[in-house]
Amino acid sequence: MRIGVVHGPNLNLLGSREPEVYGHGTLADVDAAVAALARHLEAEVEFFQSNSEGALVAHVQEAGARVDGFLVNAGAYTHTSIALRDALLAVARPYVEVHLSNVFAREPFRHRSFLADRAVGVVCGFGVDSYLLALRALAGHLGRAGGRRSVFA
Ligand code: DQA
Repeated sequence: MRIGVVHGPNLNLLGSREPEVYGHGTLADVDAAVAALARHLEAEVEFFQSNSEGALVAHVQEAGARVDGFLVNAGAYTHTSIALRDALLAVARPYVEVHLSNVFAREPFRHRSFLADRAVGVVCGFGVDSYLLALRALAGHLGRAGGRRSVFA
């Protein structure tokens, strides 16, 4: 099982960016936690971050051929990007939408997502644990297709 982790704009600034919203952990800390859980789940993971919508679209197109699914924290592009939605649908890989913060407890413009209705699920509000919950859930989703048991129980 191979999972692509996609981080959108400004997530490279984690650690210094609005720590009261996003915490003090860096993107490297997030990736290390995801990699450790992936080892435990016997999944392979690859990571990509970009501030550019086009680069994210190009990455999804290219990585879609080799991964079984994606964890996607598209940052602000969640709320704006039909292009990223189209790329995810084009490669036809299951994905989980992830946010560190609870976007529904924030400004109204963060309540809309162009990705959520086609996602396997959405996890938000748990900081780095949003990624870890999403990884377990996606691994469970992919594993069930292969007849495996739950990754939670
Ligand atoms: C975010 C929430 C988005 O609304 C915001 O634009 C981000 C980060 C999160 O992880 O909480 O950049 O995706």
